[in-house]
Amino acid sequence: MSKEYIFDITPGGRLSGDIRVPGDKSISHRSIMFGSLADGVTEVEGFLEGEDSLATLAAFRRMGVVIDGPTQGRVLIHGVGMHGLRAPDGPLDLGNSGTSMRLMAGLLAGQPFDTTLTGDASLSRRPMRRVTQPLGEMGARIETEAAGTPPLRLRGGSPLRGLRYDMPVASAQVKSALLLAGLYAEDETCVTEPAPTRDHTERMLTAFGYLITRHHNTVCVKGGGRLNPVRIAIPADISSAAFFLVGAAIAPGSDVTLTDVGINPTRIGVINILQQMGACIDIVNKRMFGGEPVADLRVRAGELRGIDIPVEQVPLAIDEFPALFIAAACATGRTVLTGAEELRVKESDRIQVMADGLRTLGIHAEPTLDGIVIEGKGGESTVQGTDFKSVPIFGGGEIESHGDHRIAMSFAMAGLRAAAPIRIHDCKNVDTSFPRFAGLARGAGLGIQVRGEG
Ligand code: S3P
Repeated sequence: MSKEYIFDITPGGRLSGDIRVPGDKSISHRSIMFGSLADGVTEVEGFLEGEDSLATLAAFRRMGVVIDGPTQGRVLIHGVGMHGLRAPDGPLDLGNSGTSMRLMAGLLAGQPFDTTLTGDASLSRRPMRRVTQPLGEMGARIETEAAGTPPLRLRGGSPLRGLRYDMPVASAQVKSALLLAGLYAEDETCVTEPAPTRDHTERMLTAFGYLITRHHNTVCVKGGGRLNPVRIAIPADISSAAFFLVGAAIAPGSDVTLTDVGINPTRIGVINILQQMGACIDIVNKRMFGGEPVADLRVRAGELRGIDIPVEQVPLAIDEFPALFIAAACATGRTVLTGAEELRVKESDRIQVMADGLRTLGIHAEPTLDGIVIEGKGGESTVQGTDFKSVPIFGGGEIESHGDHRIAMSFAMAGLRAAAPIRIHDCKNVDTSFPRFAGLARGAGLGIQVRGEG
């Protein structure tokens, strides 16, 4: 029986210094998948040693791929080629990781052997028909539970045919699952997205020498090609940087530089939204890192204003909304989010769980079907005629993170503007995306103590 894992946050403080958050989770998953299927050795640096990407790594090991590391973010993948995977000796447990499950459903649909994909309680509640239904149209045979949830039971040996698919939701996981199945399909597979979503699959396939074409919002691959091994340097994860962007933006006196952060245009919604709210973020030292743009992000505290979040930014900031809601609570005026019903089917129902936590801390937050309305308390914090001051925004209290890593880290940052201690429950899953978060945050100035152990 594991003990509870709690974050205790001391109120107040500010953030400062240079911070290198861990490697990008989306890119780390894909590096293992494509490296495993390449003909030869792929060398990865900056790999995220978090539980989600380690679950992908362990799954490929169980399918016969020799993988050395990770050692300080360095991984060597001895690729077995497109047809070299072997049947695992039992179900593959993907823990909390939706990305592992959905992408691997696509990749494994075209293999000659059967596989079963399982996950933890949170993953076992998440919708999988969004991938199993179009994969079924390609000829895959995949069973789910009656509710369309995991475990996924994949029957091997079914020939796949190409598909033209108009995605009903803007999802990079669905797009990627179909493109991965498309590598094994006869003819061409084309996926049309209703709005731009993260394009790491397309970029990495190109880096491995696989032909992939894009016309407007449609991406296509043809089956039957091969992958050439490459060296991959993984940038710091903008989704992990987001907690520090928000923390520094809301805590007066803060000045933080986040280094080597991936600024892929399909991921920078959090920067766009914070800048629109008036945050002071400088993007400096732009450069390329293995096919992905990176930069250093300097962020200083300043007054924020509430906004109507532009709906086209939603897929570009989909994982950063819990942190952005904390910023919204510290802004002057109302922030309105719409078009974000996807947040209800993430690691937790992020609209409801954030609304509950914000209310506990004294913020007026109204969940809607597809978003939230947050009444910022920033206006009340500026004494008229004076500068931006560290007047508390949040009360103290006990927050339920529902085992959702991003909820836990977002409320940790709220402590910077709290009047009293905040205790956050069920924080173990922070290790899925951001190992050593507490130590890094403490070093930057957050009063955070971790109690209990997993
Ligand atoms: C991801 C895509 C997004 C994101 C997830 C990672 C990926 O999910 O929320 O954390 O790596 O492709 P959706 O495709 O469900 O939006």
